[in-house]
Amino acid sequence: MKILVIGSGGREHAIAKKLLSDSNVSTVFCAKGNPGMKKDGIQIVDISEDNHEKLIEFAKNQAVDWTFVGPEIPLLNGIVDDFEQAGLQIFGPKKAAAMIEGSKEFAKELMIKNQIPTAAYQSFSDFDLAKAYVLEQGAPIVIKADGLAAGKGVVVAETIDDAIMALKDMLEDNKFGASGAKVVIEEFLAGEEFSLLAFVRDEKVYPMVIAQDHKRAFDGDRGPNTGGMGAYSPVPQIPETMVEQAVQEVLLPAAKGMVEQGTPFTGILYAGLIATEAGPKVIEFNARFGDPETQVVLPRLDSSLATIITELLKGEEPEISWNNQATLGVVVAAEGYPGEYVSGQLLPDFISEECRVYYAGVAEKNGLVSAGGRVLLVEAQAETLQEAQQKVYQALEQVEWPYLFYRHDIGNKAF
Ligand code: AMP
Ligand code: GLY
Repeated sequence: MKILVIGSGGREHAIAKKLLSDSNVSTVFCAKGNPGMKKDGIQIVDISEDNHEKLIEFAKNQAVDWTFVGPEIPLLNGIVDDFEQAGLQIFGPKKAAAMIEGSKEFAKELMIKNQIPTAAYQSFSDFDLAKAYVLEQGAPIVIKADGLAAGKGVVVAETIDDAIMALKDMLEDNKFGASGAKVVIEEFLAGEEFSLLAFVRDEKVYPMVIAQDHKRAFDGDRGPNTGGMGAYSPVPQIPETMVEQAVQEVLLPAAKGMVEQGTPFTGILYAGLIATEAGPKVIEFNARFGDPETQVVLPRLDSSLATIITELLKGEEPEISWNNQATLGVVVAAEGYPGEYVSGQLLPDFISEECRVYYAGVAEKNGLVSAGGRVLLVEAQAETLQEAQQKVYQALEQVEWPYLFYRHDIGNKAF
């Protein structure tokens, strides 16, 4: 088989690597990929994610069996619709179904219609009305840009003043452009967070093992929200019953609801959940694999990812088995991320027998240099999370990471 993966980050590196580990897969292309992926034999293709025409031409010329879409932006640009129209096989939701991630309001309406537990909310595009609502509700309260903002468009406001400032940034000063022209104001949910992902084909849902991300930039969950600074799986403090409840009350009704409203979902469905005292509640849906969750979930997949996707594309029932190993990954990011960051820093020669590296924001220039906010992720697997954590941090401490930083407490919540 020959497979094309769309995307260029650590998530796509992990997906491509897992696909390539199947002996039936001869070639995995990644567009546009990153030069770090070449270390694992992935072929990078210099076509940008939004050039559907060129990507289709490439897939046809190379006789690619099917295409897998990593990030949300091409999904929301209708890449699945375009490939299918061109007669090509592609795994991911169509544009209309990717709206489950593309609009918070779309997701909220789906949840209300299908009695999926989520935080109470209201949406606004008028600053004065939004402000009045915040004053009435009090703090803590959560302000979210309605559209995509790479995980950065969410403010968990501890005080009313912070909430009003966030509203001003989004609605009056256009800090998130069109994504923030509408905001969702949401009830603050207390509890531990976890990510539950599933392979979905219409009403059929095949859940994966859960993971926990670390959204804040700095140790102790301080600093701004990022795309994710590290993750681990399993998440022992989330009981199995909570996960089962989330499958029954969130994933299954979401998949069914999408079919019923005429926007059937095929692809990877990601539920961001908070384990509250009243059970799991949704804080977001994504229409794709998570980054960095993928880098710690896929090493626990014993089955072939290529076979699972092939079977789902054919409408067959995949057999999916997971291992009990613990996996932990730590992101190395450029100083300044998630704000303005330093680029072009030569990366240290990092070799570890114990760990794997998934590259993200890197470029080639007499060696690999940093070229993005999240630069790479170091992942290890072991019998226990403690051991996996030790392996990763021991490896990271072997070298200097100039103008780069990482969190030192990934996984601590599990202990
Ligand atoms: P999101 O981009 O929606 O995942 O939100 C980013 C982060 O903000 C989440 O990972 C949570 O830590 C936090 N968050 C979002 N919504 C809520 C909520 N309703 N209650 C508490 N924390 C939230
Ligand atoms: N790690 C969060 C996300 O992928 O959205």
